[in-house]
Amino acid sequence: MNVKSTEIKLTDKEFELFKKFIHKISGIQMKPEKKVLVESRLAKRLRYYQFRSYRDYYEYLQTDDVEQQMFIDIITTNETSFFREPHHFEYLKTAILPKQKGPIRIWSAACSIGAEAYSSAMVCDEVLGTSNGKYEIVCTDINADVVKTAQIGLYPEKFISQIPQKYLKKHCMRGVGKYEGNFIVSDQLKSNLLFRRMNLLENANGDMGEFDVIFLRNMLIYFDGPEKKKIVENVVSRLKKGGHLFIGHSESLFNINNSVTQVKPTIYRKP
Ligand SMILES: C[S@@+](CC[C@H](N)C(=O)[O-])C[C@H]1O[C@@H](n2cnc3c(N)ncnc32)[C@H](O)[C@@H]1O
Repeated sequence: MNVKSTEIKLTDKEFELFKKFIHKISGIQMKPEKKVLVESRLAKRLRYYQFRSYRDYYEYLQTDDVEQQMFIDIITTNETSFFREPHHFEYLKTAILPKQKGPIRIWSAACSIGAEAYSSAMVCDEVLGTSNGKYEIVCTDINADVVKTAQIGLYPEKFISQIPQKYLKKHCMRGVGKYEGNFIVSDQLKSNLLFRRMNLLENANGDMGEFDVIFLRNMLIYFDGPEKKKIVENVVSRLKKGGHLFIGHSESLFNINNSVTQVKPTIYRKP
């Protein structure tokens, strides 16, 4: 009998197994209300393998590293936008860049599809100019798929309205032919960006050097106590003295890290 994956239900026990596994490999703390989301996101993997239960998929997952990356790519929430929380880009433009001595290094530490990194690049280009070597932006994320999208820099036109006209004109081109309905970021802007997959819970960023500005926005909300602490510790250890850290508006570093001090809401500085 052919069982449709839409008819297969994720039991509470199976959800618990996935929850523990997600936590083990990414540190992400899945809340109970995410059960439906996990069920619907994994349904396509059940369909793909024609598994008859989530338990079967779970067992398979334990044996296949490639599927584990696929699993992370499916499970993570990658919502983002260009110039999201615009006060950070305003602060970068007016308070950080004008005072910068020498090239600036920026890290978009959970970059998703790169909107945050390209927004920063547009601001850097405006203040520092287009010549090479004035700024470098490193983009990392645990989700390999979104890092690939960031690297390509091709986005649906629905994002266009988020980008100020002056930047659009200078850095974005409308897609034609098979790219119609999309726009692409200029190679000139892209040449200042580096991309790699990275789990912020693992302190594997020793070769990345230090940064003047780090964006760690809208990802800490998915973590609890020790993991949240560990991620902030890992990230802050890469921040230069005097460097700035941006977090999301619904996040807090209260009781998490005291090696940075708050300058403004969601903006911190390493003394
Ligand atoms: C909601 S998006 C935020 C994107 C962007 N920073 C912003 O504010 O628009 C959260 C991102 O965190 C990434 N993420 C989740 N856990 C991670 C981990 N352990 N290490 C690195 N990135 C992680 C997800 O893949 C996702 O792309």
